[in-house]
Amino acid sequence: MFMIVIDGPAGNGIGQKIAASLNLRYIKTESQIFPDGESKIRIADMPKSEEAIIVQSTYFPQDKHVMELLFIADELTEKGVKNIIAVVPYLAYARQNKRFLLGETLSINTIMKLLNSFGINSLITVEPHKYEVVSKFKGHSKIVETDEAFAGYMSRKTKEPFIISPDKGAIKSAEKIASLLKCEYSYVDKKRDPATGALLVSSDFVADLKGKDAIIVDDMISTGGTIEQAALMVKSKGPKSITVFGVHLLMVNDAYERIKKAGVDQLIGTNTVPYEKAKIIDISKEITDAIKEIEKQST
Ligand code: R5P
Repeated sequence: MFMIVIDGPAGNGIGQKIAASLNLRYIKTESQIFPDGESKIRIADMPKSEEAIIVQSTYFPQDKHVMELLFIADELTEKGVKNIIAVVPYLAYARQNKRFLLGETLSINTIMKLLNSFGINSLITVEPHKYEVVSKFKGHSKIVETDEAFAGYMSRKTKEPFIISPDKGAIKSAEKIASLLKCEYSYVDKKRDPATGALLVSSDFVADLKGKDAIIVDDMISTGGTIEQAALMVKSKGPKSITVFGVHLLMVNDAYERIKKAGVDQLIGTNTVPYEKAKIIDISKEITDAIKEIEKQST
């Protein structure tokens, strides 16, 4: 069946790489933002096709990028496309998957319902904050992991790694990366005030790091507060260097300066979010593999 790849305004170039590797027709959407802030999307020269892959990340401004994804999906459905795979490298609202306080909205469930309502049959995303967020999506879904790509890169850069998770949430990933790099790992204990989000406690679980290349890994860096706390603690243990890997570099306001000031030597991320001040690992190949698996499941 003839399939096309459509890169949305926030596709970050990933669609082009997917199309090249799968030998599919590539279409870049044209987008325009009106003076009042509304977006307009145009898919010029769209061939007749029954299947399409839309690539659109949903980093800041999240709501606009979600709407643009829906505009594209709606247009494809109108044009008779029956099978739509949405590749959403960074999935916004994945952190709002439970009610921390009474009456809070479960925003990620709303996002999943929206994707389903606009004809999206399959969803691929990269390391969402909690893997269960895609369970509300009705259709095939696939989560792309970045541990192997990152470990592969780091294995060429260090002989004495030590992996640190900046909170309990990232321990599984830290453990996996440590096993791939055949090294030790530990974690920093972080708690947040559920109402304000402020970091409350950071107890000391980190071992002696003298002579080690400390590598802090997390799913995302937003304000940089979590990494700042972890890096300060790690630095007090005397490592040779501190590297930080954040899968999604949202890097709000002065996040970069904050983590540099806390002692981070090197920042590494992926191309789920555009960011220029870090070394970026391209995860298009991992996404392409996920598309192949989804295709197998749907046939
Ligand atoms: C939360 O548990 C996440 O895994 C990240 O640690 C968090 O979102 C990072 O946020 P920030 O950079 O604002 O501390």
